[in-house]
Amino acid sequence: MIFRKPIFISLSPNVQKDDVWLAFKLIFMPWKWKKGRDSAALEEKFRNYSGVNNSFAFNSGRSAFMAILKSLELEKGSEVLLQAFTCNAAVNPIIWSGLKPVFVDIEKETLNMNSADLEKKITPDSRAVLVQHTFGFPAKIDEISGICQKHNLILIEDCAHSLGAEYKSRKIGIFGQASFFSFGRDKIISSVYGGMAVANDPVLSERISKIRDNYQYPSYCWVFQQLLHPVLIKILVMPFYGLFGLGKIVLVGLQKLKIISKAVARGEKQGIMPRYFPKKMPNGLAILALNQLKKVDEVNEHRRKIAEIYRKKLSGPNFYLPGLENGGRKNVYMRFPVICGKNEPAQILKFFQKQNIFLDDGWRKSVVVPVSTDLDKMNYIKGSCPMAEDIAQRIVNLPTHINISPDTAEKIKNLLSGF
Ligand SMILES: Cc1ncc(COP(=O)(O)O)c(C=O)c1O
Repeated sequence: MIFRKPIFISLSPNVQKDDVWLAFKLIFMPWKWKKGRDSAALEEKFRNYSGVNNSFAFNSGRSAFMAILKSLELEKGSEVLLQAFTCNAAVNPIIWSGLKPVFVDIEKETLNMNSADLEKKITPDSRAVLVQHTFGFPAKIDEISGICQKHNLILIEDCAHSLGAEYKSRKIGIFGQASFFSFGRDKIISSVYGGMAVANDPVLSERISKIRDNYQYPSYCWVFQQLLHPVLIKILVMPFYGLFGLGKIVLVGLQKLKIISKAVARGEKQGIMPRYFPKKMPNGLAILALNQLKKVDEVNEHRRKIAEIYRKKLSGPNFYLPGLENGGRKNVYMRFPVICGKNEPAQILKFFQKQNIFLDDGWRKSVVVPVSTDLDKMNYIKGSCPMAEDIAQRIVNLPTHINISPDTAEKIKNLLSGF
């Protein structure tokens, strides 16, 4: 069975016609790109949605996290504990802030931080814990926050994957002293680049507000590049992806020519900070994010429906499905991860590719993704997080986004069960 239209897990997955049209119109309105009222409007709408008291918009989750770390005024070299099986975009802001990342192993059940290993990795230099809600599965916050209180550590939530997820009937993002969200291209909502910092502590909130005010806007050129992204991906890349790899050639060409951006710059794999961080949220991207935020409940409901299709049919001895909703956790499923046998993911991806289904989202093969990230530069000690190392070799993610219909999900599930 060959699908005519290519199916993607990433490549602007959340973008619908109205988003492409909005980005297209904005390309011709440069006076709206930098300053404007929409960043403040986005902050307000975000507060109303998430139930937080303060929110500060940045041009990425990375910038938001950097502002939070700066607001903590930690001594240089202080340790920030975070889980392995993460993205270098969560590790680098720690390094760029002159702090030291220390990796904690994960639990198979949630793909989130393992509390027992967290306790083991705490040292006298530990100052903060970054708790990630991987793929929209809330972490076991009570356990982790108990450990933070016991050891006098600051708790920061990494909500990059999990806008709208709930823990004990409250939206995540309000459990730590501060937290950040991402509106990156393949997150729950997307403005290609964008992020939000939230502070639940009034002192931190005041400091983050000042830090944000002192950051610059990204350049006109950079904003233009991001506005082009949804338009060119939809018109020039996606339709030709299955055609002898033509779409991929176009994508790489556009990225090489710097006409469109990459989610993570090449230098970041070596721990080098791009010059467009840390920056404020430009108005043009805030307009895109506002349009997406309007649809967040709808897209999350959709993700849950698609996840249900996968979960019902894929359970069995061949696959382990993390993220069961117990202990008051409500998922939003940025992805639907499937844990299979060692060496199987590469074969599965190849098999799907032949059907014109592109499932490689880069979340595999390494404890710090994308795969060619320099683990020494990230301060990762080989063997220190065995579960994360194992999962990274055995994971395949399935798409759940709004452009995946229930029928497509059924087909993907049938293909995978028959594999
Ligand atoms: C787990 C995690 N944390 C943080 C980030 C940083 O978000 P952003 O891409 O908006 O900088 C990302 C995304 O790249 C991520 O996957």
